[in-house]
Amino acid sequence: MTGARDLRICATPADVARNVAQWLLDQALATPDRFAICLSGGRTPEMLYRLLADDPWRAQLPWPRLHWFFGDERFVPPDDARSNAGMVHRALFSRAPVPAENIHAMATRGLALDEAALTYARRLRDFYGADRLQQDRPLFDVNFLGLGTDGHTASLLPGDAAAAEQAQWVCPVPAGAGRPEPRITLTRPVLESSRHTAFLVTGANKAPMLRCLLQGDSQIPAAQLRPQGARIIFADAAAAGTDEP
Ligand code: 6PG
Repeated sequence: MTGARDLRICATPADVARNVAQWLLDQALATPDRFAICLSGGRTPEMLYRLLADDPWRAQLPWPRLHWFFGDERFVPPDDARSNAGMVHRALFSRAPVPAENIHAMATRGLALDEAALTYARRLRDFYGADRLQQDRPLFDVNFLGLGTDGHTASLLPGDAAAAEQAQWVCPVPAGAGRPEPRITLTRPVLESSRHTAFLVTGANKAPMLRCLLQGDSQIPAAQLRPQGARIIFADAAAAGTDEP
C-alpha cells in the first residue's frame, strides 16, 4: 500500500477489504474498552463486512465489546434490498457472534420518518451518556464512510439541509432530496465525533470525487467533515487513478 499522509491505496477492492479488516482489528485490540463502530451503507463496504465474519478476523475480533451503529439508513423495511441494516445483517450480523444488544440499527418500521430520526438520536445520546458531544470524548471509535459520485457521504447530500445541520444529531432526509427513498442520516457533528474516520472508496467512477476529497473541496459534503480524530482513506487503484498502488 502506498499513498499520501492519510491515503492508503490497494490494488483491488478485495485488497482494500482485507487491509481495512486488519486495520479495524488493530484498532479494536488497541483498547480494552467498549468499542463503537459506525457503519456506512451502499455496495463498497459489503465485502469488508463479509470478511469480518470470516477467519482470521472472526476469531480475533473482541465481539462482546464491539457496538455497531449506522451512519445513515434508507427508510425502507429491513428486508428491503435497499436497507443498509439488512445488508449488514446478511453480510456480518447473521454470520458472526454479535450480541443482539450491541446492534444499534435505525428503526424504519412503526415510526414516521421524523420520529425515527429523533428516536435514533436518543439512542445515540443514551449510549454516549450525555446530551452534548464533547471534543475530548468522541462518540465513535471508528466511523466508516463511503463517498458518492456527487460527493455525498452518509446521506449528507450536496445542497440538502441535513448536510448543513449542526444542532440535531440525526436528520430525516425526505425522498426527492436526490434519492428515490426517504433516508435518515447522522449529521456532521456526530459523524465528526470519532477517534478514527475511515473512508472506503473503490472504483474508477469515484476518482473525481476522491480527488475533491483529498484536495479538501468544501463544495462536497464528504470534504466538509472535520473529523475530531484521525482521517484515513482506503482506496483501490482505480479510484486513486493509479495503475500500481
Ligand atoms: C448509503 C451510504 C452512502 C454510500 C455512498 C457510496 O446509504 O448509500 O451510506 O453514503 O456510502 O453512496 O455508495 P457505494 O458504496 O454503493 O458506491
